[in-house]
Amino acid sequence: MQGILRIESASKSFQAPEGGVIRALDNVSLTVAHNEFLTLLGPSGCGKTTLLRAVSGFEDLDGGEIYIDGQPVSDQPAHKRPVNTVFQRYALFPHLSVQRNVAYSLEVRGVAKAEIRQRVGSMLELVGLAGMGARKIGQLSGGQQQRVALARSLVARPKILLLDEPLSALDKNLRHKMQQELKTLQHELGISFIFVTHDQEEALVMSDRIAVLNGGNIQQLDAPEELYRRPANEFVARFIGESNLLDATVVSVAGTRCDVVLTDGTVIRDCPVNGLKRGDPAKVLIRPENLLADLGQSGSDERAGHEISGTVSESFFAGTDYRLVLSCQGLPPVRASLRAGPGTSHHTIGEQTSLFVPHDAVHLIPGNGVPA
Ligand SMILES: Nc1ncnc2c1ncn2[C@@H]1O[C@H](COP(=O)(O)OP(=O)(O)O)[C@@H](O)[C@H]1O
Ligand SMILES: [Mg+2]
Repeated sequence: MQGILRIESASKSFQAPEGGVIRALDNVSLTVAHNEFLTLLGPSGCGKTTLLRAVSGFEDLDGGEIYIDGQPVSDQPAHKRPVNTVFQRYALFPHLSVQRNVAYSLEVRGVAKAEIRQRVGSMLELVGLAGMGARKIGQLSGGQQQRVALARSLVARPKILLLDEPLSALDKNLRHKMQQELKTLQHELGISFIFVTHDQEEALVMSDRIAVLNGGNIQQLDAPEELYRRPANEFVARFIGESNLLDATVVSVAGTRCDVVLTDGTVIRDCPVNGLKRGDPAKVLIRPENLLADLGQSGSDERAGHEISGTVSESFFAGTDYRLVLSCQGLPPVRASLRAGPGTSHHTIGEQTSLFVPHDAVHLIPGNGVPA
């Protein structure tokens, strides 16, 4: 993929004020497609802002190269790059009107007045602020200020828009609304967005692809569903969604399927093999919502090898589902989220029960769980 942006082996270290060296970016490579909504997701301190700053030209790399539209940009200063950034603290000019805030970058470049008026007008319309151009920043709500920041970044027609946690200062309802608006806006504009968040749900609903970062490394870069269903390692499995991760060993392989044995001796049959061989250690990932309630046929032949049994140690009703925790000897507690519909009911604490593990509910992560 040629892409609008290509990052090749980017590395960046900082001298820690306390002494020692922080590897903020450790050999990061990544390509962003034209018109793609790509998210950088990871915990605080994993290198997201450093990567954006390197793309925008505010930070020099120690090693590696960045290409925008096929051209290396290391020697290009920030203001020459066809890139713009929206920050969490949007740093608008409080004493200037909405109109002037958005117009500012065009004025600095000496764009003709009539063109500025036209471009600012259509930008304000695009972000839903038509008619508010004369207001001062202090006369706007948080969401409206966020839109001004967007309009200000987009008016210069960047090829790539970088967004560094732009929604984290907003309350939940407004954040959900802005998520949808940003997504729609990106489609309409047809430019690439690189969006930074530490919120996995936000990343899932907004992105074409997500790069999960930890410790300056890309752990996995994939479409949201792929990341969720087939995480490459334990870090990704734990960071995105809820997970049961159980230690296991592969006991037999037949084609693309295999059987594994858990630490309590339970055998789970017919798992997708994921490149594993007999005797290999693995982590069994089962999402709580993929476990099904016991249908009262425990012990029947076709269910053998597809069940986990134990004692209910926690049980509560959460509206759309019943959540329960199963304590099983020799296993960590197993969490289940059972859809609350006809046929499901509350489990009592202390009750013995089995949870059914459907065929493709299992994903095997190679290795025995040294967290990445
Ligand atoms: N100017 C700097 N000086 C020293 N350390 C820095 C500097 N900028 C970032 N870091 C460190 O680099 C790491 C990555 O930071 P950052 O990219 O801001 O993470 P994120 O945006 O994912 O929270 C962190 O450990 C941070 O403390
Ligand atoms: Mg940051």
